[in-house]
Amino acid sequence: MWQEHKKIHRPGPHAWHYVAKRGAARNVGRPSFKWTGSLRPHRVGPDRVLPDDIPKTDYYTTGIPTSEIRSPQNLLPGTAGVVEWAPGSEGESGIREACRIGRLVLDRAHAAVDVGVTTDHIDQVVHEACIEYGAYPSPLHYYDFPKSVCTSVNEVICHGIPDRRKLEDGDIVNVDVSVFYKGYHGDLNETFVVGTASEDRYVVILCLYTMQRTPAHPPALVTAISVSLSSKRLIKTTHECLMKAIEYCRPGAKYREIGNIITKHAHAQNFSVVKAYCGHGIGELFHCNPNVPHYANNKAVGIMKPGHIFTIEPMINQGTYKDRTWPDGWTSVTEDGKRSAQFEHQLLITEDGCEVLTKRLPSSPKLFWE
Ligand code: MF3
Ligand code: CO
Repeated sequence: MWQEHKKIHRPGPHAWHYVAKRGAARNVGRPSFKWTGSLRPHRVGPDRVLPDDIPKTDYYTTGIPTSEIRSPQNLLPGTAGVVEWAPGSEGESGIREACRIGRLVLDRAHAAVDVGVTTDHIDQVVHEACIEYGAYPSPLHYYDFPKSVCTSVNEVICHGIPDRRKLEDGDIVNVDVSVFYKGYHGDLNETFVVGTASEDRYVVILCLYTMQRTPAHPPALVTAISVSLSSKRLIKTTHECLMKAIEYCRPGAKYREIGNIITKHAHAQNFSVVKAYCGHGIGELFHCNPNVPHYANNKAVGIMKPGHIFTIEPMINQGTYKDRTWPDGWTSVTEDGKRSAQFEHQLLITEDGCEVLTKRLPSSPKLFWE
């Protein structure tokens, strides 16, 4: 009996099991939950290994980012204690390099997104690309996160755990890559449309044409197309929210104003802004001050100064802004099961504006509107 029990909670090293709750607990059965949409967790693969020559984070063995928790930056309010990285300093160029590697890794993941591909495969691509560049994939074991990247499908707002579910035509998926390279973190994400359900204009024309001729057939196609069109509008609006926020960033600008800019644009498209997750300072630590809310009328403290490095990463929803967390302790979903999109950049405040450290490269695969 105890042997049986142990099998459930201590899967062998090669087993695929559901993440039953935060931490290492795995289960052979899918946990029960009042799922908010149609997505379900699938089984998650065994731990991936990192070669000895990849420098590890402090949380790799313990799951606890001790340096982050102890940092005076996170104990002091607002931007007190926030690092002002000097131009040309070792720290600034280290972070720059981490961001560039993060970009190359995300572009690899982007190229791997396709119908029938599992999010676990995307995790493998990210894990192996990190190793190739000599970087540690920052999510791995961060507060016991079990994989090397976050993959957030459809109604998942953020922190989706890669699993063996295959991506379907018309899904949307956010891939959130963070890398730790020579002591510095780089963090960025993008949302992609899966497959071809979405070649809008021409498909709509074709559909209307078909509908006239064989009225019994098209409803499924019409549904697929309308899902696709509204998902694309969601994704493009989310990207515009991020870019508008970035345009505002310069020395003297208020951190609290970012949320007003993002919300104005999201609301104009009838979308909502997630409140539960924010942009953040980043550098030697994965997450630190300043806190950067994306919602309007927030009370974020502090003004931007040259040398500040932080992320902006708005999560925009088709329905309610409200979130729920799956029993795995990570997966954040919309309360109404409608879709959510996100884009993230890591920024450096310069003397006269800001620099996007995670900017797209000429070699980056195109986003659907490009
Ligand atoms: N990459 C996320 C961010 O943008 C954080 C992920 S935490 C993890 O801040 F543990 F889920 F990886
Ligand atoms: Co981030």
